[in-house]
Amino acid sequence: MALTPTPADKFSFGLWTVGYNGADPFGGPTRAALDVVHVLEKLKEVGAYGLTFHDDDLFEFGSDDAKRQKQIDRLKQGLADTGLIIPMVTTNLFSPPVFKDGGFTSNDRGVRRFAMRKAMRQLDLGAELGAKTFVMWGGREGAEYDAAKNIGGALDRYREAVNLFGEYVTDKGYDIKFAIEPKPNEPRGDILLPTLGHAIAFIGTLDRPELFGVNPETGHEQMAGLNFTAGIAQALNQGKLFHIDLNGQRGIKYDQDLVFGHGDLHNAFSLVDLLENGSHDGGQTYQGPRHFDYKPSRTEDETGVWDSARANIQTYLLLKERAAAFRADPEVQEALAASRVNEINTPTLAEGETYDDFLADTSAYEDFDYNAYFNGKGFGFVRLQQLATEHLLGARG
Ligand code: GCO
Ligand code: MN
Ligand code: MN
Repeated sequence: MALTPTPADKFSFGLWTVGYNGADPFGGPTRAALDVVHVLEKLKEVGAYGLTFHDDDLFEFGSDDAKRQKQIDRLKQGLADTGLIIPMVTTNLFSPPVFKDGGFTSNDRGVRRFAMRKAMRQLDLGAELGAKTFVMWGGREGAEYDAAKNIGGALDRYREAVNLFGEYVTDKGYDIKFAIEPKPNEPRGDILLPTLGHAIAFIGTLDRPELFGVNPETGHEQMAGLNFTAGIAQALNQGKLFHIDLNGQRGIKYDQDLVFGHGDLHNAFSLVDLLENGSHDGGQTYQGPRHFDYKPSRTEDETGVWDSARANIQTYLLLKERAAAFRADPEVQEALAASRVNEINTPTLAEGETYDDFLADTSAYEDFDYNAYFNGKGFGFVRLQQLATEHLLGARG
């Protein structure tokens, strides 16, 4: 069964994803590079609405102005011809040797200044192309050895850089917000802002925190052994889910960048349910792009590249359909009520209740029957999870 994506689904892909040539630390490319115009045409065919890119994906690092402009013009023509848009741009501060100790947090001040200028150049281009989000993934911002990096100092320098960007977009009047992408490790042994929690806490220390949110990558949270649906729910709850990188990962290992859903399918189901339907009482949903940051496996030829691009979209749409059926099922509604899932939305204190009132309430403590929770009062969460599993397997309406 093939579901048909529409532009309203907001599916987007990085130029570096479908464009990945298969090179890894153990072997060179297994596929030829893809031209940006060809990528736009194929993405249109597979049903995406947007393309995202790092500066160096479009024009080689070190390109002169004429070469850079030629590629920008080709991109613009391709966008006009296909109707695709550029919802997000980002900067490569990790591939060239100059960034081997990071960009904004390199121990070398000259490198830090160069990295900031490179990012600002891409910000200008993003604004010109109508991008609404600037993603910052700091893959080389980190260290292998504790003595090599003053973490506090590095965070100060990171803050200094992004505060300047916040001031710059405000003064320029750019309609762009920033999304920090956490990752625990790879390529550095340890990366700064390794998880969603670290990034959200850091954002609270910035001059213009309202301009900054996160770009969680599902697989990156799993690399840290975390539940990505839970982390993303926190980002949504704090109004910080500015963008998302969807992919698949199997456990705590190198960044696999598999197709979305080709890792933890249960977690992918609950994430799509969260993004599409909000929390169980219909709370906040995510309106931004559904961006796939995956790598077509090294084993595939170009046919496999487009098959895997389609697979991301199909899996997302199937999960969306399954999540809607899960919510509409009266037995699920009854199980949710039995598990008291929506009771979490009732404030624990009564309206206007003071701590004196609270301390005077004997039903809260003195008369509360906590013994009833031994050998009784089960929450029924396993039944709920089995219902989710049966919906996920297509075994129920
Ligand atoms: C990775 C990251 C990158 C970023 C990209 C956008 O692990 O390599 O996920 O793919 O998402 O650099 O900034
Ligand atoms: Mn990744
Ligand atoms: Mn990513």
